Amino acid sequence: MTILVTGATGNIGRRVVDRLIDAGQRVRAMTRDPRSARLPTEVEVVYGDFRLPQTWPSALAGVDRVYLFPAAYPAPGPGTGFTDKAMQAGTHRFVVHSAAAAGFEPGDDPEDRSLTALQRHLAEERQAHRGLELMVEATGAGWTHLRPGLLAANTLAWAKRIRTERVVREPNGAAGYPLVHEDDIAEIAVTALLTDSHVGATYTITGPARISQVEQVRAISVATGQRIDFEELSEERAREQWLRDGCPADYLDWRIELLAASLDGPGPLPATDTFQRITGRPPQTFARWAFDHVDDFRAATT
Ligand SMILES: NC(=O)c1ccc[n+]([C@@H]2O[C@H](COP(=O)([O-])OP(=O)(O)OC[C@H]3O[C@@H](n4cnc5c(N)ncnc54)[C@H](OP(=O)(O)O)[C@@H]3O)[C@@H](O)[C@H]2O)c1
Repeated sequence: MTILVTGATGNIGRRVVDRLIDAGQRVRAMTRDPRSARLPTEVEVVYGDFRLPQTWPSALAGVDRVYLFPAAYPAPGPGTGFTDKAMQAGTHRFVVHSAAAAGFEPGDDPEDRSLTALQRHLAEERQAHRGLELMVEATGAGWTHLRPGLLAANTLAWAKRIRTERVVREPNGAAGYPLVHEDDIAEIAVTALLTDSHVGATYTITGPARISQVEQVRAISVATGQRIDFEELSEERAREQWLRDGCPADYLDWRIELLAASLDGPGPLPATDTFQRITGRPPQTFARWAFDHVDDFRAATT
């Protein structure tokens, strides 16, 4: 059996690849840059780009199961999308990397200008991720939808500032969500790829509990054994910093609103018990995640 992992160089994809290799599976990994992919030697690394349908046949040839990264796949006509091509190549199982937003009520129209920036963003996310899920369901293959909440790996955006200045500057330090370890998503993904027990299931998976930004920084500090300060920014200063850091201008409002929404409640992404129900174990904590990522955050010693 050949399993294709798309998004194989991403946060979750790398863990999926590692776990499949550990399970003795034949793995093909798709990437736009095989030379810099740094994947295990056992993996067949192939060039493929979601935006270039002519690259799909070599990635999909003889593939039985696919771990499907969320992307906009062009489909010039009926039966020509990535999932259609996978089916034509013999695929009969998809495990979909989706997002918690796919489970939101379909009420909001992203074009409605009376919505808040956060409501609009979540409606767009819902549309995109639910759209991918529906595309997979339409194939008639077996599927499992994995909908992660916010990934702990999002805090890697702090890594450079932590390494160089030992500080994190953000607004609303008390805000936070139940961040999920990418390895927990990968664990469920691999179980869903290798067994029949999760066909037709949709799982919203989060970390164990809400953790504030201040607590996240403290956990990284403990893991790295280095003092790291949290400096609270005003919303205005945060917008300036995020823009300087390369954040698209149309992300600023919803990012501020997303943090503010979790100050006196769970906000739109509450903790779920899905991982515990499936595995019988609690999901990994942010503290555990920080220990797994010390090399990303620890300043090089001179
Ligand atoms: N961040 C979160 O908290 C979170 C939570 C739930 C869901 N999500 C969803 O996860 C997705 C992105 O996650 P991420 O930004 O964290 O990704 P990521 O882990 O950084 O991975 C990006 C992956 O996408 C691949 N990729 C990108 N464009 C490609 C293309 N045109 N053709 C082939 N491969 C391509 C990259 O492969 P190469 O560069 O090797 O080609 C890489 O493996 C989004 O759809 C997001 O909505 C994110």
